[in-house]
Amino acid sequence: MPNKNMHPNIKSRLIDVTDKEWIVELYSDLRITEFLPTKIVSRERSHAFFEKYLEICKMGEPYEVRIYFDDETKERMGIAACRPFEREPDYPGNEVGVIIVPEFWNQGVATFIANDLKSRIESKIGSNPSVPFYALVHDENIVSQKINRRFGFTLLTPSKKNPNASIWKFTR
Ligand SMILES: CC(C)(COP(=O)(O)OP(=O)(O)OC[C@H]1O[C@@H](n2cnc3c(N)ncnc32)[C@H](O)[C@@H]1OP(=O)(O)O)[C@@H](O)C(=O)NCCC(=O)NCCS
Repeated sequence: MPNKNMHPNIKSRLIDVTDKEWIVELYSDLRITEFLPTKIVSRERSHAFFEKYLEICKMGEPYEVRIYFDDETKERMGIAACRPFEREPDYPGNEVGVIIVPEFWNQGVATFIANDLKSRIESKIGSNPSVPFYALVHDENIVSQKINRRFGFTLLTPSKKNPNASIWKFTR
């Protein structure tokens, strides 16, 4: 049984230059990319993702990309982003997303991070955003769908741009 209190010391910080190689490692893990639009992510593409993440942090509130880590061991456990929903131009708004390092899966880490992300966004723009918030989720990513539902997202429509994925919208 997973112990949901196994990691009480999760802290976060904005992504920075020290995370570049970690990002490459993260996106080279097929367990991570299984449900992402790009299954095989080259080193160059990971670097491009990383540069984009740095850019997002410069865009101002509520946009940011945060690294979550174990405050005791300093080990990185996951990453969370709040960014413009550029992947789906038909749905202007913002996108939230979370990736957890597989060694920490099913220990409540994504749930912890989603809670933290939600309260960070609410503290900046309130709980009733004027701009819609979306998440893009692979149709077989049952765990991610469960988290989405729990955090007030409902299934909106299949994506036309990203095969086997659907757009979820924050509705409460
Ligand atoms: C999806 C992902 C973020 C979930 O992270 P996580 O830290 O394992 O999630 P949690 O531990 O907070 O679990 C959330 C819920 O799903 C359940 N769950 C987690 N892993 C599960 C599994 N393998 N099978 C069944 N249920 C599972 C948990 O029990 C929990 O439900 P509960 O609170 O009712 O017990 C993680 O698997 C991941 O990073 N995947 C790769 C990238 C990805 O898909 N990101 C999302 C893009 S939309």
